[in-house]
Parts: sequence; structure tokens; C-alpha cells
Amino acid sequence: MVCLGNICRSPLAEGILQHKAQQAGLSWIVDSAGTNGYHIGEAPHRLSQKVALLHGIDISHQCARRFKAADFKQYDKIYAMAEDVIDEMQRIAGKDFDAAKVDLLMNELHPGKNMDVPDPWYGTEPDYHEVFAMIDQACDKIVEKYRVLNNDRPLSR
Ligand code: 4NP
Repeated sequence: MVCLGNICRSPLAEGILQHKAQQAGLSWIVDSAGTNGYHIGEAPHRLSQKVALLHGIDISHQCARRFKAADFKQYDKIYAMAEDVIDEMQRIAGKDFDAAKVDLLMNELHPGKNMDVPDPWYGTEPDYHEVFAMIDQACDKIVEKYRVLNNDRPLSR
């Protein structure tokens, strides 16, 4: 899950998807990062933490980090919160950028619409609730989609 600061949107996305995967019995490794380095080492924004906790999800342990080219080797799927984030990922990853692994998160909910999750950085608490609701619905779709694929996969060869 990638946004600009790794402080507002992507920490929520990491927490929400990790929570839903756990509830579904999926042992996914979910992580998040930001394309700018302004908040490296910081915990998520207090309003992201507050809104997540209101939904029973504790994201206080998360620590902001910068997106890196090696993330394309480490992860199967990379969701960006917005189109400007994809541009920055491309700049950071260079030749390692793998378009097949990247999509906008909201395309899981509204395929082909290329909607951004709005940046709540200059907003107030209701903006964080709106962001939570959008990410929550998109993550439901992800779990639904990939759980079926996982269950179809034979356990052993
Ligand atoms: P995020 O929000 O990308 O959802 O973490 C932002 C946080 C900080 C800044 C920009 C966006 N910033 O420019 O400091």
C-alpha cells in the first residue's frame, strides 16, 4: 500500500487489509510505504490512528518508510492510493518498475475508473472517516477476490 507520506492513507490501508486478511485466515504479508521521505520513522497521523481504532484496528505500531525499487521484488501486488503516487513510484523504481504488479487501490472497487483516495493531510476528522470507508470497501473486494484464488490453489503438488 503506497501513498505520498506513509502517514495518513497507506497506514490505514495496511492496517485494514492486514486485519481483514487475518479475519479470513489468510497469512498475507501486508506493508506500506510513502514516495516522499518527509515523515520517515514517524507513527501514523493521529487522526488515522483514531479512526482505525474506532473500527477496532490498532495501527500505532507502524513506522513510516520510503518506497524503494526492491519493493517490486518483495511484493506480489502494489496498490497506490493515487495516480501521482504511481508517477513517483515509477521515478523511484526506474527499470525495476513492474506495471503488472501496480494498480490504483480504488480500481478494485470501481474497476477502470482510476479514482484516487483523496489526500486528507490538510483535512479534518470527517476526511479521515471518508478515507477509511473507501479503503475499507476496496480491501473487502481484495480479500474476496484473492481468497477464492488461494482456495483454488492445490495445497501440495
Ligand atoms: P499521505 O498524506 O500521503 O496519505 O500520507 C500526506 C502526508 C504528508 C504529506 C503529504 C501527504 N506531506 O507532504 O508532508
